[in-house]
Amino acid sequence: MEFNESQPFTLPVEVTYLKNGVLTDLVLQWNSAEYSELSCCLAALKAAYSIHQGNHWTVSKSYGDHLMFGRAYEELPAQIDYFAEKIVSLAGEDLIDNVKITATQLLIESKICQKRAMSTEEKVAQSLEIENFILDAAEEAMEILQSKMRLTKGLENMIQGLMDAHENIIYILTQRVK
Ligand SMILES: [Fe+2]
Repeated sequence: MEFNESQPFTLPVEVTYLKNGVLTDLVLQWNSAEYSELSCCLAALKAAYSIHQGNHWTVSKSYGDHLMFGRAYEELPAQIDYFAEKIVSLAGEDLIDNVKITATQLLIESKICQKRAMSTEEKVAQSLEIENFILDAAEEAMEILQSKMRLTKGLENMIQGLMDAHENIIYILTQRVK
């Protein structure tokens, strides 16, 4: 089957959006430390970078798809940097421990990439899945922080800004699917 920008496709696989409790297992990696919800969101952003970039490298048949996956991760380095620095200022550097962040990223990525995405449809589905995971994780992190009276206005704005940016990426990926 040929793909090009003027030929959208329908997904052959159902994209399963994880909803509630996406952080439940992940925060255990951090002994449920205060603000570890944010560490898990940081790991999810790094997982998204890795997944979109892998798709950017391997997608074939359409240069437009190559650019689309590139667009999906181009803002991530700045987001990751900003998010990590916010975590350090709020909770200290233990919460961005490299090995633990990478371990959490691996858990997220291996859950979403259980099967290697071969076709363009599967690659878009995978990119959509990590983007939706980020939205779910960010929303859940806000709820948890709110319940602990730790959600400052600045933190809320930062997370909402992040969600806004990722809704845009979802829009772009969804246009490819229609
Ligand atoms: Fe590139």
